[in-house]
Amino acid sequence: MVTKGIILAGGHGTRLYPTTRAVSKQLLPIFDKPLIYYPLTTLMLAGVREVLVISTPAHLPLFEELLGSGTQWGLSIQYAAQAEPRGLAEAFLIGEQFVGGQACALALGDNVFYGAGLTAQLVRAASLQSGAVVFAYPVVDARAFGVVEVDRSGKALSIEEKPAQPKSDLAVTGLYFYDSDVVNIARQVRPSARGELEITSVNEAYLTRGELQVEVLPRGTAWLDTGTVDAMHEASAFVRTVEHRQGFKIACPEEVAWRQGFISTEELLEVAGTLRNEYGTYLKRIVASPRH
Ligand code: DAU
Repeated sequence: MVTKGIILAGGHGTRLYPTTRAVSKQLLPIFDKPLIYYPLTTLMLAGVREVLVISTPAHLPLFEELLGSGTQWGLSIQYAAQAEPRGLAEAFLIGEQFVGGQACALALGDNVFYGAGLTAQLVRAASLQSGAVVFAYPVVDARAFGVVEVDRSGKALSIEEKPAQPKSDLAVTGLYFYDSDVVNIARQVRPSARGELEITSVNEAYLTRGELQVEVLPRGTAWLDTGTVDAMHEASAFVRTVEHRQGFKIACPEEVAWRQGFISTEELLEVAGTLRNEYGTYLKRIVASPRH
């Protein structure tokens, strides 16, 4: 059972310069809320209530200001710095104490997931007893991602980081669930040719043990990229379109916390009362009419 999760929200964000020269990418808005709210609520939907946010020493105080202790959402949020972007697997070395020898999820701070049936898949992944679960998404060109090849039963056959000739069209998304062995495995990872501690190496270790499960996200789900200016704009447009059409917010931590039973109606309304804007009005509306 996975109840802990790390959000990795560091990196230089150079692809978005000059916008990210002074501001963390994961704090930029995707339509009406900061990018980090999306992976945060994804973890919350999986049942995660203890979160470690890792970012650069310069940006960490900004995340603390935004997210605080997490109690407003019925969570416990801690913070740790990554001095340099040495790779995704370093999250488990930095977070060793936080993980405390238990199972733990990892969410990249810039990955956006949305879709019907997603929560059920997340809950299934979080219920893992041993091994690892990764989420894969079919893409037109998988060369820019981790790529996983699966057999008919969904068992992983191979996993490679940014292969020139992908063995499948299944990109490995930035959401991973691991058993309590993950820190030990991460300790054994050595820098790759591009000098990074790759999360793909961690996944490969689980694959070698025959313990890497792959959840393929179906057609009705969206895994949105935020790697470029265009991708961020498109993700914002997607969220705006769905929110305007249905009247629901995507990745609203107050709402998710309330629906998950992490906070009471009184607590939700207390937060709503402090927000004298459309966001606050929305929170009051979902209490009055929970279907919306
Ligand atoms: O988005 C999914 C992909 O993420 C996977 O398919 C790949 O297997 C995985 O390696 C990763 O690839 P990227 O090339 O997209 O990773 P990138 O270096 O862009 O880092 C992802 C995010 O994590 C980014 O917002 C910056 C942050 N980051 C990155 C590194 C290397 C850190 O916070 N610390 C780091 O050390």
